[in-house]
Amino acid sequence: MRVLAEEEEDMLPSTPGKVKIERAGAMTRQLHRCFASTGTMFLWALFLVAMTATYLSFHSFVDTSSRYFAASWGGLHWERQIRASASPRRPPGSAEGAGLSVLVTGAAGFVGTHCSLALRKRGDGVVGIDNFNKYYDPSLKKARRALLASHGVFVVEGDITDGRLLTKLFDVVPFTHVLHLAAQAGVRYAMENPASYVHSNIAGLVSLLEACKEADPQPAVVWASSSSVYGLNDAVPFSEAHRTDRPASLYAATKKAGEEITHTYNHIYGLSVTGLRFFTVYGPWGRPDMAYFSFTRNILQGKPITVYRGRDHVDLARDFTYIDDIVRGCLASLDTAGRSTGTGGRKRGPAPYRIFNLGNTAPVTVPTLVSILERYLRVNAKRNVVEMPGNGDVPFTHANISLAREQLGYKPTTSLEMGLKKFVRWYLSYYGYNRGTQAFNNL
Ligand SMILES: NC(=O)c1ccc[n+]([C@@H]2O[C@H](COP(=O)([O-])OP(=O)(O)OC[C@H]3O[C@@H](n4cnc5c(N)ncnc54)[C@H](O)[C@@H]3O)[C@@H](O)[C@H]2O)c1
Ligand SMILES: *[C@@H]1O[C@H](CO)[C@@H](O)[C@H](O)[C@H]1NC(C)=O
Repeated sequence: MRVLAEEEEDMLPSTPGKVKIERAGAMTRQLHRCFASTGTMFLWALFLVAMTATYLSFHSFVDTSSRYFAASWGGLHWERQIRASASPRRPPGSAEGAGLSVLVTGAAGFVGTHCSLALRKRGDGVVGIDNFNKYYDPSLKKARRALLASHGVFVVEGDITDGRLLTKLFDVVPFTHVLHLAAQAGVRYAMENPASYVHSNIAGLVSLLEACKEADPQPAVVWASSSSVYGLNDAVPFSEAHRTDRPASLYAATKKAGEEITHTYNHIYGLSVTGLRFFTVYGPWGRPDMAYFSFTRNILQGKPITVYRGRDHVDLARDFTYIDDIVRGCLASLDTAGRSTGTGGRKRGPAPYRIFNLGNTAPVTVPTLVSILERYLRVNAKRNVVEMPGNGDVPFTHANISLAREQLGYKPTTSLEMGLKKFVRWYLSYYGYNRGTQAFNNL
């Protein structure tokens, strides 16, 4: 049996609203017709040179101006906001100790928002950074930022590849921990925009680790890898000891690369590193590009949903993990992360390097997911069942979480049934479905 460990975005057709690569064929034929005579060809050549020159000068203008606008951070007021947001507010002498000061990357994202809130609520200091990119509806990211702001968490708008910004943040605040969640997520979108994965998951990661290794004191780093690193591994349930050298998507490959890159920073510079392999996280404030979310949207709008099925009519299954369980795993990782040992770019001694699965250990098939949603939404879904495209076969994810249970005290407690109820309740309220109707009031 071949088993794929990709996220459930794979069960969806590619999400609408993203840049589509133009078909070049028709254009080439048209050009060919225009170049038919040599006279017009010379004119065309002139025209093309002029166009290219205009494009290049425009491009460099846009480039400089965007750099100018991106540098909108800094200043005394800005630094005061950062410091206030970063300072722990635990009562002195509290049982949990002094409190952490955490830089959360991807803080306006799904997992980032929940973790930032949970940290703030128990009295830790949190500063977020997020570039608010348009991979999915940025208004949802802005709403999450507003929620964080109402709890006293400040989110800097900036890119993690901006080394100057990161250095500045570490100059202003001696962060004890970094929770690195910023990434280009999604499996299918990698075929449309591979560069965005290299930008955020490789270049962004290295830029962040450079800032962490330079910082004095060095923070401990906890970051999100993914269950997708298991790739073509076919031993179930997936354990940290299994092979992860056969990724099935560029997304997975960049996460796997991240595990190797963080290892070198641990080895050379003494950074304390914990990598968390999340298994299909879902819940309120979730990601619109994921199946449970877009199924909900389509079912409510009376639109058909595409449900993929594996070979031989085998249903796909995922180890869906509720956001609150993931948050507890992330906080436990921060709390148990040993110190980084380096200063001035050199390590003083070995620092911890850990990797944990964070799953639910209860895989559920996609048709079951759909029927739970139908029950809560009180609408029958229009299912469009299709065979999984060739790049996907029998995908099934199932986490072995004994390592996280043993070392982090991680114990997921939310069934898909319970978690989806909370998600649907949030969805209906966020998108205004229960205004003026009684239909969903008892959910
Ligand atoms: N949700 C899941 O099922 C799942 C599963 C496995 C792994 N993960 C990983 O967990 C992390 C969080 O995922 P999520 O579901 O919250 O995704 P998300 O897309 O909601 O959050 C990521 C955030 O990072 C930001 N970001 C991306 N590139 C950036 C950059 N270069 N600079 C600054 N900000 C940037 C985005 O704007 C976004 O708000 C990611 O690393 C993801 O790969 C998620
Ligand atoms: C889960 O992983 C642990 C090692 O972390 C191993 O001892 C155990 O046998 C695994 N469980 C299963 C069901 O494979």
